[in-house]
Amino acid sequence: MMKEDTPESKDKKMAIATGDRAILPEGTKAIPIYIMGKRYDVPETLTILKAMEYAGFKFIRGCGCRGGICGACVTVYRKPGDYKIQVGLACQTVVEPNMYLTQIPFFPANRASYDIEELSAKPEDIFKLYPEVFRCVACNACTKACPMDIKVMDYIAAAKKGDIEQLAKLSFDCIQCGICASRCMAEIPQYHIAQLGRRLYGKYILPKAQHLKKRVEEITSGKYDKMLEMLKKMDKKQLEKLYVEREREPDDSEPGKWLPKDKTYL
Ligand code: SF4
Ligand code: SF4
Ligand code: FES
Repeated sequence: MMKEDTPESKDKKMAIATGDRAILPEGTKAIPIYIMGKRYDVPETLTILKAMEYAGFKFIRGCGCRGGICGACVTVYRKPGDYKIQVGLACQTVVEPNMYLTQIPFFPANRASYDIEELSAKPEDIFKLYPEVFRCVACNACTKACPMDIKVMDYIAAAKKGDIEQLAKLSFDCIQCGICASRCMAEIPQYHIAQLGRRLYGKYILPKAQHLKKRVEEITSGKYDKMLEMLKKMDKKQLEKLYVEREREPDDSEPGKWLPKDKTYL
């Protein structure tokens, strides 16, 4: 998953000072952190992810978007004198002195197999695919662990009631990091249940966007095939020219009112 740099390359990095800032702010101190039990001294201004890279780790797994969206970098840590296990996204959480940390980039929770076309957004769809939802004992450990501050226990309660809309809405910000499942004494795969809820809600409950339906019909009827073929034949320079010279919407145009002069592809 991760590989350490040599001591030489680490020293070089100390001088260059990588991180969220190319140059560290004046007076930045090095603080000790413990990665999988080993001490590293890292600049206090870095996120955990950058601090680990600074310390010499290279990410092959456990890092994706670096923007708090993909859920790949979930990290557990404990601070000195605190019994509590803390959870954070490594790309968003700034290091603290003497934190002990490790990453859990993947948690092997049960994921049911289904064809969404064969479901119908009935509560039974959830109950049959994830009967373990009824094992929830409402301990709230999942909510406490969630780095996105999602009310996980509440969306599981919605799933138990078969309230698909509530399940989808409460879990909307889930980034599938999996840490809730790792803390669940009932071994419930909360985030997979939530994803099923959002899929059912999107496909069967949410009103369809008519303009999107129209556009999909146009695409499938072949309206854009000729244009796409033409674009595929262009080289990079021609594509760049086309992009640079495209007709742009003026900054001050009224929202939803502007139309290009060439309406061929509208
Ligand atoms: S609900 Fe679970 S999987 Fe989703 S972000 Fe929160 S802890 Fe991660
Ligand atoms: S951690 Fe598990 S048992 Fe506890 S509230 Fe969450 S889903 Fe229920
Ligand atoms: S790298 Fe994607 S959430 Fe941290």
